[in-house]
Amino acid sequence: MAGPATARQLAALKRILFVLCLVPLLRLAWGAWDDALGANPIEFIQRSLGSWTLNFLLITLTVSPLRRLSGWHWLLRLRRMLGLYAFFYAMLHLVSYLWLDQFFDWQAIAKDILKRPFITVGMSAFMLLLPLAATSSDAMIRRLGGRRWQQLHRSVYAIATLGVVHYWWLVKRDTTLPALYAALLGLLLGIRALWRELERQRQTAGADLGKRTLRNTP
Ligand code: HEM
Repeated sequence: MAGPATARQLAALKRILFVLCLVPLLRLAWGAWDDALGANPIEFIQRSLGSWTLNFLLITLTVSPLRRLSGWHWLLRLRRMLGLYAFFYAMLHLVSYLWLDQFFDWQAIAKDILKRPFITVGMSAFMLLLPLAATSSDAMIRRLGGRRWQQLHRSVYAIATLGVVHYWWLVKRDTTLPALYAALLGLLLGIRALWRELERQRQTAGADLGKRTLRNTP
């Protein structure tokens, strides 16, 4: 099996991944320091943070199928960090909106959330992310129980869908990129649906075989 063989190797891999996930933020900070974010740096920061929120959501959703296809079970040990990074970038994206875009004018913000559908959808996605981030610790998994925790965390499918809709609705002309994100998300959700259906059919077939065997047993 490819990948880290020992706990120490996995810990090292996690540290490397932790730093790699910070690169988009460090690049933004460097660009701001260097005055290299173009004519509209606020828009650049906000859009970049939004893109990375969506990227991390989709990367997180890639872990399970990739693990299943490759047999690299250790990938699952990286999923929580990737999901928390999605939340981290979403928080920065939201803060950039509240601060750099709206200057903490709460009345204008409330109006904007209600008036512009793409903001309403983005805010809904963020609100749905909160319970997932709050229940990401081992202690919370134990407290909720694996099954309930899993059910709750399935809302990440809805969150990613809202994220793509948010992106699609804010783009004014060229929808190529949102369409690409939508296609990738469709693939990630489609493969899960397909596997679930195959599993269901396998179980039904197994149950039928069991019944037939019982009937034919003298
Ligand atoms: C999971 C939550 C969210 C995701 C995945 C997300 C994703 C994105 C993406 C991909 C973009 C476009 C980036 C680009 O053009 O390259 C974007 C832009 C933007 N988002 Fe979000 N977003 C989220 C939440 C929010 C929230 C909570 C707000 C504010 C309440 C918000 C406000 C904005 C604004 C104002 C823009 C820029 C629009 C423009 O420049 O015309 N987003 N977001």
